[in-house]
Amino acid sequence: MRISVFGMGYVGTVSAACFAELGHDVIGVDVNPAKIDMINRGLSPVVEEGLDEAVAAGVKAGRLRAIADTAAAVLQSDISLISVGTPMGRTGAPMLDALDAVVDGIGSALRHKNGGHTVVLRSTVPPGTTEGRMLPMLAAKSGRDADNGIAVAFNPEFLREGCSVRDFRNPPFTIAGSPSAAGYEAVEALYSGVEAPFIRTTTGVAESVKCLSNAFHAVKIAFANEAGVLLKSLGVDAQEAMKVFCADRQLNISPAYLRPGFAFGGSCLPKDVSALVALAKAGDIALPFLSSVMPANDAHIDRALQAILDEGRRKVALLGLAFKSGTDDLRHSPFVYLAERLIGKGYDLAIFDRNVNASKLLGKNREFIEREIPHFDRFLISDLRRALDGAGMIVIGHASREDIAVLEAEHNGRPILDLQGVPALAELPGARYRSLC
Ligand SMILES: NC(=O)c1ccc[n+]([C@@H]2O[C@H](COP(=O)([O-])OP(=O)(O)OC[C@H]3O[C@@H](n4cnc5c(N)ncnc54)[C@H](O)[C@@H]3O)[C@@H](O)[C@H]2O)c1
Repeated sequence: MRISVFGMGYVGTVSAACFAELGHDVIGVDVNPAKIDMINRGLSPVVEEGLDEAVAAGVKAGRLRAIADTAAAVLQSDISLISVGTPMGRTGAPMLDALDAVVDGIGSALRHKNGGHTVVLRSTVPPGTTEGRMLPMLAAKSGRDADNGIAVAFNPEFLREGCSVRDFRNPPFTIAGSPSAAGYEAVEALYSGVEAPFIRTTTGVAESVKCLSNAFHAVKIAFANEAGVLLKSLGVDAQEAMKVFCADRQLNISPAYLRPGFAFGGSCLPKDVSALVALAKAGDIALPFLSSVMPANDAHIDRALQAILDEGRRKVALLGLAFKSGTDDLRHSPFVYLAERLIGKGYDLAIFDRNVNASKLLGKNREFIEREIPHFDRFLISDLRRALDGAGMIVIGHASREDIAVLEAEHNGRPILDLQGVPALAELPGARYRSLC
């Protein structure tokens, strides 16, 4: 393919050299003449292991060169990749002016180009940028859209500085987000020769996965460092503890607990997070990250409360009270906290949970619920149909297949707030459905 790459920084230079290595004809474009000059002399403008060699090989083979002229680069290529910087602005939001300048230039050039062209955004941008900002700008400047051969895509880059050439050659996956088949196909053709799963998705998902990946890496580092200082203060070998911790691929290093839904609760998670925070406080160690976990969880319960208040129905049916389905454990259940707040606000609540039977609750479980919601058995209704009777709104904490079947017949178009994100609920015919995540 004939490719133009805009922005000869860490991402752009690595991509340009590696795409040339894959056999494509690549033109690099940058506003910095020193970078253009270096590439044309077969030198990398950034320091990266293996990159000097890759740039030199591309230039020598006649498959890589750099120019400053945007229009010429667009006219001499079929696909443009944008990898200009999106640095952090004053408020923390990324600055997109370099992106806007490049899109403006590509759009103007496309007005004078015959034939189709694909524009692939590779810079890290907020979700919504490709279709909400880049595409309309491109259409306005070029006077062309998908019907006149213009395709767009978002293709994130997951390379790590220091080993970016290796990362380019062995990515975890290649993601293409696009509103059109032409967009996916162009990105897929670019990467033929790179062995990795190819994921086609929306631009919003592709943009989000890139931002979330970096946020998650940061979260992991903050977590590991806080664990490290706390354990060290307790005389525990933190390196060994984290090594063993990471050996659990079922619950720790895994997709477990990474599904957006409702707040956590139960007898273990809140207790043990609080225990670590208390231990740190006692040792005068600041753990701002772990200390923010319980407030973050409470904020999620507040979101549910607000969504119910916004609906303005005073009588609410709540399905699910135990901290998760299939148990009657009410201890620190987020649904108990939600119910308590609703009752405190004078809401008429009908609670149904097929596993919770007031007369069978014992020990700490009974103590907890009686402390949080005195006379809670007044609110508990053992029959789902009766619980739904007269309710102006239905809130789903968790629902079994049987419950969903009853809801299908009985929701009667009442608003449903699904706290867990149960796919079958979203599809109930005629339902006024919403979820938190
Ligand atoms: N650095 C990484 O490891 C990495 C990894 C993945 C994604 N990203 C993302 O990729 C993007 C680029 O990052 P980077 O580290 O390569 O940035 P960088 O600052 O190293 O390079 C950006 C380049 O864009 C050029 N540029 C600016 N305006 C231009 C214009 N109008 N026309 C042509 N070129 C122009 C600059 O001169 C510079 O050479 C960012 O959004 C970043 O968040 C970076």
